[in-house]
Amino acid sequence: MKISVIGAGYVGLVTGACLASMGNEVSLVEVDMRKVESINNNIFSIYEEGLPELMKGTDIVATTDYNVINGAGIIFICTGTPSNPDGSMSLEQIKQAAGEIGDLLRTRGDYCVVAVKSTVVPGTTDEVVIPILERSGKKAGRDFGVCMSPEFLREGRAVYDFMHPARVIIGEFDRRSGDTLLPLYEQFKAPILRTDIKTAEMIKLASNTFLANKISFINEIGNICKRMGIDVFEVAKGMALDERIGNKFLNAGVGFGGSCLPKDLRALIARATEYGYNPGILKEVLHLNDKQALIPVDLLKKHIPLNGATVGLLGLAFKPGTDDIRDSRAILVAGALLKEGASILAYDPMAANNFKNIFPEIKYSSIEDVMKSDAVVILTEWEEFSALDYRGKIVIDGRRINKAREARIYEGVCW
Ligand code: UGA
Repeated sequence: MKISVIGAGYVGLVTGACLASMGNEVSLVEVDMRKVESINNNIFSIYEEGLPELMKGTDIVATTDYNVINGAGIIFICTGTPSNPDGSMSLEQIKQAAGEIGDLLRTRGDYCVVAVKSTVVPGTTDEVVIPILERSGKKAGRDFGVCMSPEFLREGRAVYDFMHPARVIIGEFDRRSGDTLLPLYEQFKAPILRTDIKTAEMIKLASNTFLANKISFINEIGNICKRMGIDVFEVAKGMALDERIGNKFLNAGVGFGGSCLPKDLRALIARATEYGYNPGILKEVLHLNDKQALIPVDLLKKHIPLNGATVGLLGLAFKPGTDDIRDSRAILVAGALLKEGASILAYDPMAANNFKNIFPEIKYSSIEDVMKSDAVVILTEWEEFSALDYRGKIVIDGRRINKAREARIYEGVCW
C-alpha cells in the first residue's frame, strides 16, 4: 500500500517507520526543512527507542513537497495540536495539512482515504477537517474517504506500542473508508473497534484523561495517607489485586507531565465548557496535579530556609527515557524554588539542554556536584538515581526511589 504521513513529530515518524517496516511504501511530509534534512540523515530531534534502527531499514524519504502524496491510498495527518492559551487545542497545523491535501484532491481522479491521527477534540474531523478537504470540490464518502484513527503511543516506547497495540480504533466516515484502513491493522493481535469519527476522537481523549485521573486519584490518596502515617505504595499494591482496578498508573508522586495528558485534559475541559458543561472531575485532576508539583517546595521549607540555599534537582524530564520537558513537574518546582530565593544545581542525563532554554539561570552540573547541595529533590525516576549514596543528605523524593530512604532526612511527597 502507498501511504503518506503528514507531520514528523513522534506519532508521524513512528507511524511512518512502522508502516514502512511492514512492507508499505511510505512518504513523509514535513514543513520544517531542517527536520526533513535531519530525518533523511537518520538524525531525530526526539528520542525514541528503536526508531533510528527501524528507519535505517526502510526507504522512507522525508520531504517538504506535498506532491508526494499523489498516488497514496491513505494519507495520515499526524501534525501537532498544541494548547492555545485558553486550553483549547490549536488546529493551525491540521488546517494547513488539510488545505494542502485538499489542493491535491482537486485534480485527483482516484479514491484515497484521509486519516487523522493527531489528537483532536470530538467534532474536529467532521467540523474542521472535512469542510477544508471539500473545498476541493470533491465530496467525502463519494470521492474520498475519511477516518480518525488515534494512536496510543507512549513517548520513548512508541515503536513498541505501535507494533503491539492493546487495541485499534478506527473511526470511519463510512464503511468504505474504514475498509481501506483495516488491512494495515489486521496483522496485529489486537481487538479492532470500528466507530464513527467523533467517538474515536473521544476514545483517545477519554483514555488519556482517565490515565491522568488515576494518577491524581492515587496522589490524593497518598496525600491523605502521608498525614496518617500510611504507605500509599502498600495501599496501591493492595488495591491492584482487584483486577477491576489493576496495577498500572497507580504510582503516587509529584504528578504527571508530558505533551499529552495535561494538554488533553485542558482541551477536553475547554470543549466541554463550549457545550455548556462544567467538567468538575477533569478540572480537579488538573488542579490537584499542579498543587502536587509544589509539595516538594513546602516540604523543603520544613527542613531548611530556602532563601540562599542551594537545592539540587535530580531529574528534569517529564519521565525517564526521554529528553522531553514539556509540562514537566520540574518546571514548576524550579520556578517556585527560584522565587523563594534558592539557587539550583540540576542534573538530568538527557533533558538538561532543553531545560536550559527555559531556565538559563540554573547551574547544570554533574550528578556528584548536585549531591553536594544543601538538599536534593528527586523529580524523575531515572534508574541511575537508585545507585546514588544518599547517606547524610536531606532528600525530598517525588518519584519513590527506595535507595534514597537511607538519607539523613528523607520525605516522600505523599508517603
Ligand atoms: C501518554 C499515554 O500514556 C499514551 O497512551 C498516549 O498515547 C500518549 O500520552 C499520547 O497521547 O500521545 P506519555 O505522554 O508518553 O503517554 O507519558 P506517560 O507514560 O503516560 O506518562 C505521563 C506522566 O505521568 C509522566 O510524567 C509520568 O511520570 C506520570 N505517571 C505515570 C505518574 O506520575 N504515575 C504513574 O503511575 C504513571
